[in-house]
Amino acid sequence: MSRLSRRQFGKIAGWAALGPAAASTEPAGAGTAQESRFTGQGFISGFPSDFLWGTATSAYQIEGAVNEDGRGPSIWDSYTHRPETSAELGNADVADDHYHLYKDDVQLMKALGAKAYRFSIAWPRVFPEGSGTPNPKGLDFYNRLLDELLANDIEPFATMYHWDLPQALQDRLGGWISRDTANAFADYAGHVAERLTDRVRHICTINECARFVHLGYGLGLDAPGLKLSRAELNQVRHNVALAQGLSVQAIRAHGRTGTKVGPAENIVICIPAIETPANIRAAEIATRELNAAYLTVMLEGEYAEGYLARVGKDAPSYTARDLSIISSQIDFVGLNVYRPDHYVVAADNDRGFTLIPFPASFPHMDSAWLRIAPEAMYWAPRHVAKLWGVKSIYISENGTSATDEPAADGNFYDLDRIMYLRNHLLHLQRATSEGIPVSGYFVWSLMDNFEWSDGFQKRYGLYNVDFDTQRRTPKLSASFYREIIRHNAVV
Ligand code: BG6
Repeated sequence: MSRLSRRQFGKIAGWAALGPAAASTEPAGAGTAQESRFTGQGFISGFPSDFLWGTATSAYQIEGAVNEDGRGPSIWDSYTHRPETSAELGNADVADDHYHLYKDDVQLMKALGAKAYRFSIAWPRVFPEGSGTPNPKGLDFYNRLLDELLANDIEPFATMYHWDLPQALQDRLGGWISRDTANAFADYAGHVAERLTDRVRHICTINECARFVHLGYGLGLDAPGLKLSRAELNQVRHNVALAQGLSVQAIRAHGRTGTKVGPAENIVICIPAIETPANIRAAEIATRELNAAYLTVMLEGEYAEGYLARVGKDAPSYTARDLSIISSQIDFVGLNVYRPDHYVVAADNDRGFTLIPFPASFPHMDSAWLRIAPEAMYWAPRHVAKLWGVKSIYISENGTSATDEPAADGNFYDLDRIMYLRNHLLHLQRATSEGIPVSGYFVWSLMDNFEWSDGFQKRYGLYNVDFDTQRRTPKLSASFYREIIRHNAVV
């Protein structure tokens, strides 16, 4: 199956007729001055003065050291060691060896002038069995990393779950099919929050619910490689949403007062095909409906009518109390923005919108699924601010794979990545200049790493990594990003 079809996220949420639209509020102002000045060399479009520029990674994709200091196996270790997957993908037993090279990697961030770093904590390092007895040596690694980041004036954003579920929970409970996994996740999140929030002020709960559920439990293309029935899959979705709410509560109960918590979601991004008021409204309605199983229920505390009508007898079992847990107050929404899911036009039908099919000639980046539509970077945060009155948004990931062949002089002139980033950032600048409250941006990724079902074949880093020698080499995009940060503007 091609990568494009693997990432058909848009088809997983509610599809049928939508009930009354959510109360809309106008986006709040970002509150800080914007700059847009003519330099004589071209316009420089500025961002708010306190805008946070960062890079992002995740534990399994970079750390390696899978058997060190008491770490337990995760579902990704098991999945990548299956004979059929290991032959195709390799594994991340070593990956970027970040577990040992983290000090050097912090210097890579420093060289960019980055002000923030989003990383994830490996649950199986902290609880090798998923729950029960913690492994203090596991958290020691993150203590060392945090100290190194803060010593270099880099603000840590920690993600609690970036897909590396302890294998023990998959074996004992069936993983996310059981709500006990949601409870175990909350216990783990509370344990970590108690010990790290003296230094971590922002915690992302779960990275991209839609991706790991759909591909891992629905299509069998990510760990744990299952193909559950529709009803089971909807239960998994519900349990994951529940885990989001339970973990927010646990982090608040055990973390320092003032700790900011929110999800990092890859929402289904709906773009008005032509920016008329009617199409914009249609895109908002579609956004609410197509994100029903995750962000909509998290922010509204109920499943959209259209979603329930569509899933019918395959609806998950849940209680009213579950819904109030799922919608526990969050402090920010993280958005992972890569590509458009749908272009939308207004329609005189039950749903109020039509999704336009993509023509075969629509352009994409090196990864076939990664269609190029920089305006997604404007519409995703705008819809979230407008539909749900969200006052604080981070772009928790944005980036692209590229072929990254070295030129004759040995340098990596990744002009396609620069083109992609520059155009997305121009649309982000449009958003912040209109007062849409985006407070920061994290490029995916700091360095090349293990890209899940693409193994080491796809490269997303600002730094090239030679996986034989662990040598890191800045690509041209690293210089580009450094200039963006230095000017606080698109250059
Ligand atoms: C995001 C994930 O979906 O996309 C990252 O949060 C991932 O972990 C990135 O690496 C690129 O996706 P892929 O499937 O091309 O590796």
